[in-house]
Amino acid sequence: MMEVVVKATTANLGPGFDCLGLALDIENRVRFIKSHKDFSDKNNMIYMAAKKVFDIAGKNMPMIDIEQQVGIPVCRGLGSSAACIAAGCIAGNIMSGANLSIDELIEIGTEIEGHPDNIVPAFLGGFTVSSMDEGKVVYYRREAYEGFKYAVMYPEYTLPTSQARGVLPKEIAFGDGVFNVGKASLFTAAMIAGDGELLKYACKDKLHQRYRKSLVPGFDEIVDKAQSLGALASFLSGAGPTIIAILSKDEKGFEIAMREHLKSVKGNWTLKVVGASNEGVKIVTD
Ligand code: HSE
Repeated sequence: MMEVVVKATTANLGPGFDCLGLALDIENRVRFIKSHKDFSDKNNMIYMAAKKVFDIAGKNMPMIDIEQQVGIPVCRGLGSSAACIAAGCIAGNIMSGANLSIDELIEIGTEIEGHPDNIVPAFLGGFTVSSMDEGKVVYYRREAYEGFKYAVMYPEYTLPTSQARGVLPKEIAFGDGVFNVGKASLFTAAMIAGDGELLKYACKDKLHQRYRKSLVPGFDEIVDKAQSLGALASFLSGAGPTIIAILSKDEKGFEIAMREHLKSVKGNWTLKVVGASNEGVKIVTD
């Protein structure tokens, strides 16, 4: 039996579309158990990722069963598919003896997922900046600043990433691109420096949130409320529908007031305040 722990991740963080990412202290535990029959769901992301590593190693996938303890809300923009892929890759790497490096596994994971912004923090934990360069993932990773906490708010409905990407324009105005380059750069600096005041100016986006918010009723209302309650930044997590507000760690009062407010927003919203996680995917039982 092998058990893997993998964290939730938030991508984009407002202006950093498809490049900024952060691991959060919400986790899935995945158990790989020797079995006498073949795993029935061949489309399961964990299975597919593990099998891909076996294929690369030129080995046959043994008969296994996969059990999960799921803490990461599924299809909500919190990296649940990246978590499955990272768990499958890391377990497949050990079980097959492929002995691939973490960077090779990140490449495989990104190929399955399509973009690196959730995959990189799922593998490495912390705050990450990633970008594709001639088909390769180039990334920067840093321990998350300890002085922030994260109010994670998600509704009961799911939003497939494909649907949330489907509402994006094919082209953007030059000025909007310039705007986001500036804001994403400021956001990165603020996360590295732990500068909450800078975050307030950095968390603005013209690339995706204004198109996607029609899929998340109450988006503006929740973001406005979060700002009025002292959030340093609020944004759609990944492709949504989760909304995250960054708070100063010593802030008090946000959680109770926001929980009360969310009762008036359609969608039966859940609120959890969590820390960032500096732990990447790891095997806890061998
Ligand atoms: N950067 C991606 C998006 C994250 O916003 O579509 C979702 O996987």
